[in-house]
Amino acid sequence: MQTQDLINKYQQIFKSDHQLELFFSPGRVNLIGEHIDYNGGYVLPCALTLGTYAVVEKRNDSLIKLYSENFKSQGIREIRLDENIERQDTDDWTVYVKGVLKAFIDSGYEVSKGFNAYIEGNLPNGAGLSSSASLEMLVSQIIKQLNHINIDTNEMVNLSKQAENNFVGVNCGVMDQFVIGLGKKDAAILLNCNTLDYQYVPLVLNDYDLVIMNTNKKRGLADSKYNERRKECDTALSLLKQKYDVHTLCELSSKQLEEAKTLFNSDVVYKRALHVVGENERVLKAIKYLKNGHIKMFGQLMNESHQSLKQLYEVTGFELDTIVELAWKEEAVIGARMTGAGFGGCAIALVKKGSVEDVISRIGEKYHSKVGIKASFYVVEVGDGVKVLKN
Ligand code: GLA
Repeated sequence: MQTQDLINKYQQIFKSDHQLELFFSPGRVNLIGEHIDYNGGYVLPCALTLGTYAVVEKRNDSLIKLYSENFKSQGIREIRLDENIERQDTDDWTVYVKGVLKAFIDSGYEVSKGFNAYIEGNLPNGAGLSSSASLEMLVSQIIKQLNHINIDTNEMVNLSKQAENNFVGVNCGVMDQFVIGLGKKDAAILLNCNTLDYQYVPLVLNDYDLVIMNTNKKRGLADSKYNERRKECDTALSLLKQKYDVHTLCELSSKQLEEAKTLFNSDVVYKRALHVVGENERVLKAIKYLKNGHIKMFGQLMNESHQSLKQLYEVTGFELDTIVELAWKEEAVIGARMTGAGFGGCAIALVKKGSVEDVISRIGEKYHSKVGIKASFYVVEVGDGVKVLKN
């Protein structure tokens, strides 16, 4: 997106242009390690060059005026910093902004500066590429900058996650906000979600491109079964604590889980735990393959991850399964899986360079005739985390 275009659009909406500041916050894909962050294991996400932009002008009062090009029909929305920030039925997309403001204020930060913001994103909404965490981290960066708050990115991650958990009401883990905060161009992040220790892993895919396949089946995280899965994992953990001294499911190996099978009186809960423990082990294998350039083996683990999410964790659904299974049939595809929470949204595939266009067009056609929805495809470019573009 062109900086000047964004600035022009700000001027058209707010009819003013004093000291504009520009911000960018990316979306993300997770390469492997799904539904692992809230179970204390390893994930391997990367930040995208697609994301959310904001053009911001400080105001002299405590009013916040927001306009999103992605929700044009809602016009300019207002939030007052001199009133209590509370959730309302009419919040819609501004719930994320309010949530982050409240998280800062409740943590004792002085947030008094009002501002106007023109917001525009090129991430598809509700597609599992974390458009909401992207907006939350964008707002954190704006609040930090305008109020001269001395806060590091880890704390911004923490506050944005709090906004999602406590204000929006989705009990998400830390992965999305973390990679959106700390992502780095051309690298994935291997994050230990238990300790928050992390390392950058150069994303060298040799002869392959990473392609996002958007099923265009929308999913709402809050009303999906996300919170239900978390509860099932909590149940599994409390059963396993009868035998093992552990704080998270990912501290266990597959072997230990199997040895505790008799503790489970629900097949469903056992299956959830099987996915979590197996997926965490897959991430550790995947990282070795990636570091050693064994991309085909890495792709194989992506396939196994999808199978596990389908059969054991049951978060895929018709659209995601269809698009991933179509990808598997392509010779030029060495791995494909859903990414993010599931229940619709996006999948990713590793596709041989030079075959990408043909593969996309074949999968697109077959998906359309089977599902009746048109899919969209993007070749992934891995970018940096949230940043100030101009001030
Ligand atoms: C969503 C959540 C993340 C993570 C993924 C599943 O994106 O926001 O915290 O749990 O689902 O891996």
